[in-house]
Amino acid sequence: MNELARKYYNIFQSQDEVKHYYSPGRVNLIGEHIDYNGGLVFPAAISIGTHGIVGKRNDRMIHLFSANYPLEGVFKISLSDLSFQKEHGWANYAKGILDELIERGYQIPFGFNLYVEGDLPTASGLSSSASLEVLISFIANDLYQLGLTRVEMALLAQGVENDYMGMHCGLMDQLIIACGIKDHALLMNTATLEMTPSRAKFDGYEIVIMNTNYKRKTTDSKYNERVCECSTALKQIQNHFQIDYLCDLNPKQLMKIETIVKDKTLFNRVKHVVTEQDRVITAMIAMKNGDAKWFGSLLNASHESLKNDYEVTGLHLDLLVEKALKYGAIGARVTGAGFGGCAVALVEIGLIKQLIDQVGKEYLELTGITPDFYQVTFEEGVHIIDNA
Ligand code: GLA
Repeated sequence: MNELARKYYNIFQSQDEVKHYYSPGRVNLIGEHIDYNGGLVFPAAISIGTHGIVGKRNDRMIHLFSANYPLEGVFKISLSDLSFQKEHGWANYAKGILDELIERGYQIPFGFNLYVEGDLPTASGLSSSASLEVLISFIANDLYQLGLTRVEMALLAQGVENDYMGMHCGLMDQLIIACGIKDHALLMNTATLEMTPSRAKFDGYEIVIMNTNYKRKTTDSKYNERVCECSTALKQIQNHFQIDYLCDLNPKQLMKIETIVKDKTLFNRVKHVVTEQDRVITAMIAMKNGDAKWFGSLLNASHESLKNDYEVTGLHLDLLVEKALKYGAIGARVTGAGFGGCAVALVEIGLIKQLIDQVGKEYLELTGITPDFYQVTFEEGVHIIDNA
């Protein structure tokens, strides 16, 4: 019996037969805030994530416990009332998935106990919530034999995030967490859902994730504001251009767009989206050429654009990126939604230790916060672990 199963038995005081599931987090290498604009993104599933130990119940209750929120105790929820309730905190993600499945007419004839434990920092841009949502979708699919594909599970999880939790995110996080491939990042076309695996490796360099440990409470509302700005701009542009998404535009068209989208802020949002899409395309060429420095310079340009045009970085992220570049990174940028959370840096292997020490020291001096650093591997998407 594994350690997590033991904890399950301890919490639920039962000897049920259990299954062990695992859902990774993700890091996005380039292509930020364009997954809801039909753009290309380049994320990977990573070696930190969320475990779930599940045992069937023979009533219509779900009992949910998270070792990450132990003080919240065991939520005991009936399958006949799955409405969102603020005081149910993280458990709302599980409720939302089951609620949506029932709404769609799937048979959910019995409940389950779920023990959750994860090592993803929450609200840090590494997709702890998508990891949980996809975990629950995968568990439900397995437990109730729903026959959903991985892409369908990702879409289900995204729908819950959008409509049940009220965060109008794109599909990137859920899709990579559902479909990740070991040792690969995936180039994802968010308009067609086509995915192309790539080893995303440069000889002599590694990706280091840097966590600002700075959490802003307004991330969801600011995020939704950006989504809304993009759709407003798209509508204005569609009066002149036949496009489905902002990412259907190319940088050469920006001069004309400036005369259509007259609001400066809105125009800057479009500028970020269009140039970011172009950077992803160029980054793929840099990778094919094995040109780490070129790839790094695109990471830097992405950060500048997210800072100045899209305005989703902030002092803490900017500082980490600036210090990382000072201490040996050849490229660095915010990853994920921004407004705090994490950045990624591409660093020569021999300089990683110095970078972590020096950036950690100077960031602490300037902000009073100790940052965290993670060196992760790229892993497969959500799956069953056969050792419960
Ligand atoms: C969050 C969202 C994603 C994506 C990123 C920004 O992680 O969940 O859909 O938009 O922000 O690229």
